Amino acid sequence: MKKHFLTASFTLLVSLAFAQKQTAILPREVWPDEEGNHIQAHGGGIIRLDKTYYWYGEERRPGLDTNHRYVSCYSSEDLMNWKFRGDVIALTKPDTVLENNKWVLERPKVFYNTKTKQYVMYMHLDGAVKGVSKSAWAYDYASVGVAVSDKATGPFKLIKTFRPLGKESRDIGQFIDDDGSAYLIFECRPVKGFYIAQLSDDYLSVEKETAFIQSPLEGGAVVHYKGLYYAVGSTLTGWSPNANKVATAVSLAGPWSEFVDIAPTDTKTYSSQSTMFIKVAGTKDTTVIFMGDRWKPTALWDSRYIWMPVQIGAGKLWLPEPKPWTINVKTGEWKQMDVK
Ligand code: GAL
Repeated sequence: MKKHFLTASFTLLVSLAFAQKQTAILPREVWPDEEGNHIQAHGGGIIRLDKTYYWYGEERRPGLDTNHRYVSCYSSEDLMNWKFRGDVIALTKPDTVLENNKWVLERPKVFYNTKTKQYVMYMHLDGAVKGVSKSAWAYDYASVGVAVSDKATGPFKLIKTFRPLGKESRDIGQFIDDDGSAYLIFECRPVKGFYIAQLSDDYLSVEKETAFIQSPLEGGAVVHYKGLYYAVGSTLTGWSPNANKVATAVSLAGPWSEFVDIAPTDTKTYSSQSTMFIKVAGTKDTTVIFMGDRWKPTALWDSRYIWMPVQIGAGKLWLPEPKPWTINVKTGEWKQMDVK
């Protein structure tokens, strides 16, 4: 009895300690949500609706039902403290052509359509295809899935899977321009590169090719800053980090410049992979945050996040060494912190 009481008190103390308010973003550390659990929103996407940010991502916590693939949702008003809002979809095998149970749902992105008042989720669906794949682990399905909900916090319902513009589609990214137009970024093969493609009015289809940036890159992320578009991607090394690169263009349609590294080459983007940019336009400043994943393929739930404001402007984008930092989403100002 006494032992149980002690264990319970200890557990409570630990969760209270973790439940403390976050006053900084600590790149590469465990990032506790408001309940003290490491945030499970890998390969994620973020939208802001009024004052609230919603972060969707791959739910990878141990013990999930292996017949489903899950997308999580978190909300925050300050980008530092995140409340778990639950798993918004538990997808079952989306297509009978998928050969086995090794199929994947990766890099989910949610868009909010103000006309239809629908939340529209895009996800990368992949796996071995019956009669086509040579390996049980192949990524030959190379498609996107679209799921919808009338609430940010779900539940989402899958409505279709397809290949955008009829092309093989692997890593996906989301880009919402300052004028509100919404784009899906998707990595394509066998001609390697990524497409930036505008969504239809209702966001349910990928309507038109805006650009195809031919370069062997994935993890595509785009930001629009002071009259220039910056497109970042990682090279094709799977879960292993590499030197991510950036190109710029005056118009989304291009022409795009050559790609150059965004961090010292040997740091391999500080052991991370690009996922998206968050632009915080405040009353005093505009901060652009690089949102990257540091994957741990043998323990995906313990993969970490590398979020860090970038130095950006006049055609240059540079990721400084990630260190603890804090942001004021109202003013848009950020500063480095002395933590630990
Ligand atoms: C990476 C990709 C991840 C995941 C992984 C699987 O290249 O960015 O989202 O697909 O490969 O190996």
